[in-house]
Amino acid sequence: MKVNVAMLGMGNVATGVYKTILQNKDIILHRDNVEFNIVKILVKSLDKERDPAIPSEILTDDINEIINSDSIYLVVELMGNINPTLEYVSALLEKGISVVSANKDMISQHWPHLEACAKEGGSGLYYEASVGGGIPIIKTFLDSLQSNKIKKLCAIINGTTNYILTKMTDDAVPFETALNVAQEKGLAEPDPTSDVEGYDAKYKLSILASLAFHSKIPVSKIYCEGITGILPQDIQYGKNFGYIIKLLAIGKREGNDIEVRVHPAFIPERHPLASVRDAYNAIFIEGDAVGQLMLYGQGAGASPTASAIISDMIVASQTAIHKYTTFENVDVPSSQITFIDNWTCEFYIRLIVTDEPGVLSKVAAIFAKHSISLESVVQKSIGHSEVPIIFITHRAKEKDVKNALSEMKASGAIIDIASLIRVER
Ligand code: HSE
Repeated sequence: MKVNVAMLGMGNVATGVYKTILQNKDIILHRDNVEFNIVKILVKSLDKERDPAIPSEILTDDINEIINSDSIYLVVELMGNINPTLEYVSALLEKGISVVSANKDMISQHWPHLEACAKEGGSGLYYEASVGGGIPIIKTFLDSLQSNKIKKLCAIINGTTNYILTKMTDDAVPFETALNVAQEKGLAEPDPTSDVEGYDAKYKLSILASLAFHSKIPVSKIYCEGITGILPQDIQYGKNFGYIIKLLAIGKREGNDIEVRVHPAFIPERHPLASVRDAYNAIFIEGDAVGQLMLYGQGAGASPTASAIISDMIVASQTAIHKYTTFENVDVPSSQITFIDNWTCEFYIRLIVTDEPGVLSKVAAIFAKHSISLESVVQKSIGHSEVPIIFITHRAKEKDVKNALSEMKASGAIIDIASLIRVER
């Protein structure tokens, strides 16, 4: 079966898709009886120098040549961003042209609209590459875990921050130094905001949690905190407690209570996610039937992302009646769902106090007043009167911990709250 395809965008990943299709043409034809014929590629500039494998005669800078074509069945969107991508993809879907996209920003924030356009046009919307690069996590939720109630997902879905945190852990360097190395290696963008502030992981979690919990999880309901405030001394202190730091995307569901959050967290060094180093991604899932499951792989890069894109292209080409999400894909989730913002976990807290009698008892009394039980307390002697004390709590409520710390600060019992890092198990 010959399938006419257009591509939107011709950057690094798109070039990877083009070349992988050429390179693995025979296996795709032999296994799946599909032959992709790339007939148009939308680019911003026709004059830009490109990989010689890309034929210049199929380049266009006019989207209408693709939208108005009667022979194009499938479009691969790799332009990124929301404007004008959303407008183009909406028009294609409404016209009945299926779209394969890696655009997590667009899918997570405009999914209900895009799905409505696809239903209207009878086209398909495929997004395996939007989360976890080459890791087949979307298909795992859609096609393999249907019989499970997913209780929890805990994921490392941003390679840039995982690389930075690995570097800070191994070399005991500050955030800025590790970020510079990531930028030099081309792992971090020149403007790293979306990655280091956790926004990229938040968009991806919105997609994953919606599939996992079978309910639309809007981006706006996800608590988000990035890694810019992580200090190398806390990573080293954490090591002494047997912890490794990661930027986690966490989703939990109990009945109709859902908690979704992205933030740095310590995890025990024996946790399966602790071994996920450098720019790798992994998604750890707990289902009531399957138990614990972890998928690990490359979350970005031309080749791994091409693997996911081409898989979607094959499915889209072989599907006569496209499937849509089976949950209610609406901007405002059902009123039966409660989003929990006062979650429970353990906490690592580093306070700066004056090294004098009675300080510890004052601090301990405030923790006790807020129902926070302590697992361990370590004072680090640094040779002067202001010293750090590190507390690891037992499981406690987020708001109780925040209130206790505010009270300590206001009462003058402590000099400063140096760090607060959640501990997940
Ligand atoms: N910037 C992302 C990451 C890759 O660092 O994981 C694309 O989603």
